[in-house]
Amino acid sequence: MSSSQGFALITGASSGIGATYARRLAARGYDLIMVARDRARLETLAQSLQQQHAIEVRILRADLTNAEDLQRVEQELQNNAAITLLANNAGMSVDGEFLDADSARIQAMLALNILAPTRLAHAAGNAFRARRRGVIINVASVLGLMHEMFNGAYNGSKSFVLTLTRSMQRELANSGVQVQAVLPGATRTEIFDRSGKSIEEIPTHMVMEVEDMVDAALAGLDAGEAVTIPALEDIALWQDYDRARGTMVPYLSLNQPASRYRHSEADAQG
Ligand SMILES: NC(=O)c1ccc[n+]([C@@H]2O[C@H](COP(=O)([O-])OP(=O)(O)OC[C@H]3O[C@@H](n4cnc5c(N)ncnc54)[C@H](OP(=O)(O)O)[C@@H]3O)[C@@H](O)[C@H]2O)c1
Repeated sequence: MSSSQGFALITGASSGIGATYARRLAARGYDLIMVARDRARLETLAQSLQQQHAIEVRILRADLTNAEDLQRVEQELQNNAAITLLANNAGMSVDGEFLDADSARIQAMLALNILAPTRLAHAAGNAFRARRRGVIINVASVLGLMHEMFNGAYNGSKSFVLTLTRSMQRELANSGVQVQAVLPGATRTEIFDRSGKSIEEIPTHMVMEVEDMVDAALAGLDAGEAVTIPALEDIALWQDYDRARGTMVPYLSLNQPASRYRHSEADAQG
């Protein structure tokens, strides 16, 4: 039983945003390869989606912070020509601000939030480019744009995903491969409980239901958006920010320091 959409490989498909992508992509006729650590949860969801949508669902149990497991998923992307979509979604946060958080947990987070999506995006990007067809969805976060709050290492991991995505979009322009960065705000999932926090601490007006978030992200994908920020009503705010960044680009690497830095050594010597 195979669909014309091909297989969507979704990391972190056992709960939250990834499980919701699995439901929505199954409804769109994708066969699924669901990746996460919790086999029992993956099997329960796989069974219900198979029955509901008459699609093929495969489970690839993997701890993406483990080098061998990550390599298996990477090889699946390299070798399985039926895969047409990668949802690079698995991720975690840590409890507390950067300096207060446990450094071993930070290291695991960076492995999951940075190294794993990088390796998988690299594998999928090359495989899809060779076939001139494919979609890569990289789940970042609005915290990648916010330096003012939460844990700097988590925020930095999500800035990384945004930067990588935008650079891949340039590399894959006109290749038939679509790459999207999704920047959710606070979304009601288990990520808060898992990192020892409660979503109840966040004002309710700032928390989106996971189905609304994923439906908006898929609407953005359908519209061909490079960057989708589900909560942002006034898209001009993002466009202004991005334009200001682009305006700076020609002036950021030159053979002279800026004039405001040029006087100091001589002046300081008197
Ligand atoms: N919820 C939010 O407010 C929010 C906001 C912005 C961005 N995001 C991002 O959205 C993505 C999904 O998060 P979520 O909110 O849906 O959280 P979630 O409900 O906690 O889901 C995380 C998923 O990642 C999987 N996972 C965790 N550690 C893993 C590992 N070592 N190896 C393989 N899979 C692993 C989990 O499955 P197993 O436990 O079965 O492995 C689970 O399926 C993350 O990248 C997160 O940073 C979330």
